[in-house]
Amino acid sequence: MALFTKDSIERVREAVDMVELVSAKTDLRRAGSRWVGLCPFHDERTPSFSVNPEDKLYYCFGCQKGGDAIGFLQEVEGLDFQEAIETLAERYNVRLEREDEDPEADRKRRERDRLLGLLDRTARFYASYLETSGEAAKARAYLAERGFSEETLREFRVGYSPSAWDRVLTGAQRDGYSPQELLDAGLAQRNQQGSLYDRFRGRIMFPLADLRGRVLGFGARAMAEGRGPKYLNSSESRIYRKGRQLFGIDVARSHATKSGRIVVVEGYTDVLAMHQAGIRETVAIMGTALTEDQVVELAKVAKHVILALDADRAGQEAMLRAARLAKDRDLELGAVEMPEGADPAEVLQKGGPDAMNGLLERARGMIEFQVHRVLADAELDTPAGRDRALESARRLIADVPKSSALRQELVRTVADRLDLPPDLVIAQVPHRSEPARVARSPGQIALGPEEAFLASCLASGEVGMATLEGASADVFSSQLMRKAREHLVTSFHDPLAGLQDGDPELGRLVAGVVAKADTQQPASEASLRLSFLQLEQRRIDRELRRAGEAADRSMQDRLAAARQDVRREMDAVMGQMA
Ligand code: GTP
Ligand code: MN
Repeated sequence: MALFTKDSIERVREAVDMVELVSAKTDLRRAGSRWVGLCPFHDERTPSFSVNPEDKLYYCFGCQKGGDAIGFLQEVEGLDFQEAIETLAERYNVRLEREDEDPEADRKRRERDRLLGLLDRTARFYASYLETSGEAAKARAYLAERGFSEETLREFRVGYSPSAWDRVLTGAQRDGYSPQELLDAGLAQRNQQGSLYDRFRGRIMFPLADLRGRVLGFGARAMAEGRGPKYLNSSESRIYRKGRQLFGIDVARSHATKSGRIVVVEGYTDVLAMHQAGIRETVAIMGTALTEDQVVELAKVAKHVILALDADRAGQEAMLRAARLAKDRDLELGAVEMPEGADPAEVLQKGGPDAMNGLLERARGMIEFQVHRVLADAELDTPAGRDRALESARRLIADVPKSSALRQELVRTVADRLDLPPDLVIAQVPHRSEPARVARSPGQIALGPEEAFLASCLASGEVGMATLEGASADVFSSQLMRKAREHLVTSFHDPLAGLQDGDPELGRLVAGVVAKADTQQPASEASLRLSFLQLEQRRIDRELRRAGEAADRSMQDRLAAARQDVRREMDAVMGQMA
């Protein structure tokens, strides 16, 4: 359905000053009949972006993006076609004509436009009331004490609602709005006697705008505790729908399209603090679980979404939901591990922008984030707890492409953390559509990685024998384990027979290893090598800790290099196995 007449769209195109429009995003200089500059769509040092002011077209020789003014605005501001053309029409004073519209739709649109006008008027009223009224002095002091600058408050049109019952009501009616319109805009409500009063009173007002900055509703924070809920939102209406809004999206939009990423936080104050700290591509979901509508909005402005939500349960749930929603949408979703009990506003207050940027840099992909959560929450000291964690982790890992570096990294992390040989973890990871295999039958024994290594060697004949002989004693963390290795090397073919009665501890250990080996298939050379490398990595980690305690820098450097080598070899071996 064509919304605007072809003719009026053409007039908008003609009215545009392409050089002026583009100059708002990148500096242009004249080059013959064209203008050139650095491309606003990709990083570059030498200009490959050019604008033709006659044809009113742009083109980048670097990234091959090009088009007209409407396309430029869509691209750079994340607008859809209709939004872009309306913005340009307004800016260059062209009256857009609509295709013959049925009268009913036309009436609805006019009604809606009036409500939007009322909301905009009210937002301006609240904002000036915050800046100037005596009544709002406490709110001003509070916001200042929280560290929010006047500039920030103004940019987000933060306001204050008078504590009187009817200031908005009377003011708006004086401006020609009807009581019904005040109700429809969610600004007034009825008492039991049926008379109207202002919905928002004595609260700090946060306007909730759409992508283009049109105010659709408000979030209103109480100043004092105990007087109603901490936040009161506009009631649901034709205009305002809970679960659609993203606070700050209008301000964050152009920053997000430029940087390609958008950061999602929980609350209003987090958004203010983030923008003030220069992390301008930030919006809030306002305490709810991320909804599908919100994901759609986010996807319009950036392909990379980073969640910086509370570390508590509700926040986690929101993230899992988001992961499912993003999957269908070519959205790269990451999450930040927020410190327990802290939100971004607090992180910024305590650690400044560096602290928050550091967290953002360490954002993990969603699957990786979830695997780390599983490991962090795991009960590591019981085999059953480790089994449960392994079960959850491997379900997550199953979604990671096979033989990707990420999959290998995750397998290694899980194996390390759960004290399991990596090949066991790999074996447990199902293919995408395969039903999950049972982790381990109850009779089987969960052993630490050193014992598991010994058992694998024992179960694998000559290759196992050779691996065991080749394993240096120092990969084992205790005297007892070293003794066990020695015993197995000398009595490889009949380990129980050669045990002496004098060492019951060694006897128990070897008996356990033999029992385990009896339940196993022979392992491949690669798989044994991998188990050995895991032990080697653990040895290096132990020594790294010691070197750290002794502040031995050169030793630390050497060990770090050795650890790199080990990990590289693990990757190579896993690559062979995949
Ligand atoms: P400060 O405590 O001043 O930093 O405010 P905050 O915005 O960070 O609040 P909080 O961390 O308690 O909650 C995070 C977000 O959840 C808020 O910004 C709101 O969007 C939402 N929220 C919290 N409490 C309520 C409530 O009582 N009602 C509604 N509708 N939303 C709430
Ligand atoms: Mn908060």
